[in-house]
Amino acid sequence: MYQPAPTRGDTAWFVHDRFGMFIHWGLYALPARHEWVMNAEKMTVDEYSKYFEIFNPDLFDPKAWAKAAREAVMKYFVITTKHHEGFCLWDTQQTDFKITNTPFGRDALREVVEAFRAEGLRVGFYYSLLDWHHPDFPIDSYHPQRDVPDAIERNKNCDMTRYAAYMREQLRELLSEYGKIDILWVDFSYPDLNKNGLKGKGHQDWESEKLLALVRELQPHIIINNRLDLPYEIASVQTDVSTPEQVQPDEWVRVKGEHVVWEACQTLSGSWGYHRDETTWKSDEQLIQMLISTVACGGNLLMNVGPTARGIFDSRALDALRVYGEWMSLHSRSIYGCTQSEYAAPFGCKLTQNGNRLYLHIYNWPFKHLRLKGLRSKVQYAQLLNDASEVKIVRHAHINPDNPTEHGDLPASELDEETLTLELPVVKPDVIVPVIELFLN
Ligand code: GLC
Repeated sequence: MYQPAPTRGDTAWFVHDRFGMFIHWGLYALPARHEWVMNAEKMTVDEYSKYFEIFNPDLFDPKAWAKAAREAVMKYFVITTKHHEGFCLWDTQQTDFKITNTPFGRDALREVVEAFRAEGLRVGFYYSLLDWHHPDFPIDSYHPQRDVPDAIERNKNCDMTRYAAYMREQLRELLSEYGKIDILWVDFSYPDLNKNGLKGKGHQDWESEKLLALVRELQPHIIINNRLDLPYEIASVQTDVSTPEQVQPDEWVRVKGEHVVWEACQTLSGSWGYHRDETTWKSDEQLIQMLISTVACGGNLLMNVGPTARGIFDSRALDALRVYGEWMSLHSRSIYGCTQSEYAAPFGCKLTQNGNRLYLHIYNWPFKHLRLKGLRSKVQYAQLLNDASEVKIVRHAHINPDNPTEHGDLPASELDEETLTLELPVVKPDVIVPVIELFLN
């Protein structure tokens, strides 16, 4: 089994816990048409301020969010403290563009952190490197004002050094006023996006090395993701986790050939922020399979919820979380503490492994027999995980080579000494993805 090389942050708990909740919540919950709405509709800061003026999530109940996450059997969460719109979810001293200055008036971040901690979840902060509100942040091709004719002229008044210092001061607040923070999820770099005289941004703009040093000074153990655009020599030691987004890796994620700690981030539907009219909500099977397939390649899954502007998870999100809760209540043993197996999974299945237990996740329930190559002498016992009912291991000793199909046996040509054959019930167990637990010798 692969063991990624150690990095500075404490990833031991992370690779055990495997499953977390992403929360995208900001002013964009009000337009409810994607968290990039300011960019998509090229809104000015003034136009966007109408959301700031009315933001008042009257049903906000962080205890209910935390309970929903715990019941989905998630172990950590990462929340947007500030997204690209620049709006801050805490009572920062660095800007007036913060939640305590909206009609709502409360430090939501503090309440969320307390509620999730009380439910036993670890705490992660998302922090956007982009900021479409800050006057020192130069217009680039992702900026809502990218098409104004005097963009280059306007940029002359921006002072990126001052903006980088602003970010450090904000991170200082976030990492010193909210107790132990387990993850810092910074987002994102685009040094190569150069268009129409507007430059992309990367580690020199963010002053990523200084930012990193500050973060490590304040929270030495913290897990930092890979979006700071640091040179490989620094990133591979000082940062801790690769973050493929909205894709399903089908093998262990590697950087320069090396296996790394990784976490896929995914949405329940196509948007991160609450999106009223987005309809590509994933099916129950997809939700469960995404979690399994990720762990089967040695990764974590960070599944996103975008609360509404009333401050609640909408019914579609709650339904999806219940799907996880129900499946995980019987199957978390095949997820927590598990990683990619050293054995190959048969067609239509995914394998995870925890020491001498193998977990065979069956996506396509076959008729009666399931064969696993190379495992016959290694497996002592097999059972369904959902009800601990024995799954019989079929012995082939009685096969008659002259009449290979007698007793309903499999054709001898398909068998070899080391093939393990399991006898399954004809009817698929009543769970979204059944799991067979194999006890290795
Ligand atoms: C992106 C998007 C963003 C989202 C993030 C989550 O980089 O800019 O809206 O927050 O991915 O991974």
